Amino acid sequence: MGTGTAPDIPSAHAVTLKVVRTIAELRAELGPGRRRSSEPSVGLVPTMGAFHEGHLSLMRRARAACDVVVVSLFVNPSQFNDASDLAAYPRDEARDRALAAALGIDYLFVPAPEAIYPPGFATTVVVDGVTAGLETAHRGPEHFRGVATVVAKLLNIVAPDVVYFGQKDAQQAATVKRMVRDLDMPVRVDVCPTVRGADGLALSSRNVLLGAEERERAPALHRALRAVADRLLAGERDPERAVAAGQAELWAAGLVAEYLLVVDPATMVPLQRVDGEALVVVAARLGAVRLIDNLPVMPAPVVAGVH
Ligand code: PAF
Repeated sequence: MGTGTAPDIPSAHAVTLKVVRTIAELRAELGPGRRRSSEPSVGLVPTMGAFHEGHLSLMRRARAACDVVVVSLFVNPSQFNDASDLAAYPRDEARDRALAAALGIDYLFVPAPEAIYPPGFATTVVVDGVTAGLETAHRGPEHFRGVATVVAKLLNIVAPDVVYFGQKDAQQAATVKRMVRDLDMPVRVDVCPTVRGADGLALSSRNVLLGAEERERAPALHRALRAVADRLLAGERDPERAVAAGQAELWAAGLVAEYLLVVDPATMVPLQRVDGEALVVVAARLGAVRLIDNLPVMPAPVVAGVH
């Protein structure tokens, strides 16, 4: 060193060096600690409990696809911006345990809050872009920070091959996908279809908090989404005009949307014109309960020269 000449390179080292340029290849090369094909596949279904058919459909999907299925049950305080909402969140661990057992789930992971947020906890995962607007406008920026942070922790703890989310929380699913992509987390995000009641109401743990009269009006959310989607499928390209049809459904049920929009499903940005895949999203309050729902739409592509 310091002579300006290159050091001697021992030839044995030179021949074993492998240059790896992709993350996937590096992970495969590193072997130990990485899954090999002979190892069981692990699926994770993150939940906050109060299981309904929507959760069970995720668990069934995980059970059918993975050797080992872990369901986490953790009412994550950091994603609630309202202490009364956190306190009112339905909880029934014994019932959840019985439902998970009946589906053959291998592990129900029920951590104490101090296990997830130990004293001195100081790290937050912030996903920009996709979290702007919609839910953030009504639940504050803490919401998706709390979701991204706890999901990142669960992915590190469980190290699953596949993690399952419901389409009903579309902005949450898009946020997790963005985080996984941006942070090179070695997991596949499987977003599963929304499960609905016979009247179209999307299943949600919050539905049990609806009074009888509110429960009767709640399916208007789905009718509103359908009305917008039908307009788009019939060739309407202007989201505002399509949304007007949905607003009429909500007003007829005495509901005012916090938002009813047509957005890009990957970025969650409202569309100015619908020329391809789109997502109709809605949120409304029924008394003290806030419900959200969405409907993916795939209008036929515009044929050149036809307007
Ligand atoms: O969708 C939920 O239940 C929660 O937001 C999740 C993903 C379990 C994170 O706490």
